[in-house]
Amino acid sequence: MQNRFIDSITQLPKPLATALIPLLNDDFCGHIDANQLTELVNISQMTEEELLLSLLPIAAALAKPSISEFYVGAIAKAESGDIYMGANFELSSEALFHTVHAEQSAISHAWLNGEQKIIDIVVNFSPCGHCRQFINELVSGIDINIHLPGQQPQQLAHYLPYAFGPKDLQVTKPLLSKSHIEFSLQSDDPMIIEAVDQAGLSYAPYTQNYAAVVIETKDGKTYCGRYAENAAFNPSMMPMQMALSNLIRHNRDCSDINRVVLIESSAGKISLANATMDTLQAVAAIELEHIVVDPS
Ligand code: THU
Ligand code: ZN
Repeated sequence: MQNRFIDSITQLPKPLATALIPLLNDDFCGHIDANQLTELVNISQMTEEELLLSLLPIAAALAKPSISEFYVGAIAKAESGDIYMGANFELSSEALFHTVHAEQSAISHAWLNGEQKIIDIVVNFSPCGHCRQFINELVSGIDINIHLPGQQPQQLAHYLPYAFGPKDLQVTKPLLSKSHIEFSLQSDDPMIIEAVDQAGLSYAPYTQNYAAVVIETKDGKTYCGRYAENAAFNPSMMPMQMALSNLIRHNRDCSDINRVVLIESSAGKISLANATMDTLQAVAAIELEHIVVDPS
């Protein structure tokens, strides 16, 4: 079992802890598939909602809140039945806007795994306004059930009345919708190929700046992040932040970073190069590889 779970596992009921320990191996990044979840429900003899609430300390153990020391854990349950954990991530000594919230981490975790609909979000503290707005960008976002300890589940509509969202800007295919933009770029560099592919899966209906970041660690593993825009603009999630939270969920450290590539579309109204370089500079003394590609 990974060290970061030692404290949280002791907070769980014994049968659940025993069943969970084999899953918390070195590869564990907070993804539990539908079959494993059913098995945990059976073993724990809890309802699924009770189980998900009980798993929140495990999700919170994925956090890296180096400024606040405030551990937030979230779980997104997708239509597939799989669950995806996420946790907050703060950049030590840097501006607070670099922060990734637990809900954003869990949602992006599900999206990067190809999920097209989220049904439930379970979180250990009430979602902040910025997260409510971020969730409202998702497919059927206003209907997503929010579960909090000690509260009846309520749809996002309850937490975000009079919502402003993609429809107000005439966007009909919200975040998580299936879509793929093709780019014409010839490269035999696997990291660039991966980044171009991920940029094609990104969500940029307000600027058309389809973009992705791939981080390579010194052992050759890669962690990607896609750009996810928001109708209210500021709650948009940068691909670099998404890639870093992915890296952290995998229990990796920023000091392991070896190479970082940003791909973005030449047809975009904006560029994320400066914002990405700014974040990269804060975590590693590496030059950003920035490649602009043409849609095909
Ligand atoms: N935080 C979340 O992760 N989700 C919320 O909705 C509430 C706030 C995090 C952000 C920051 O890392 C810390 O909690 C303090 O605000
Ligand atoms: Zn939040």
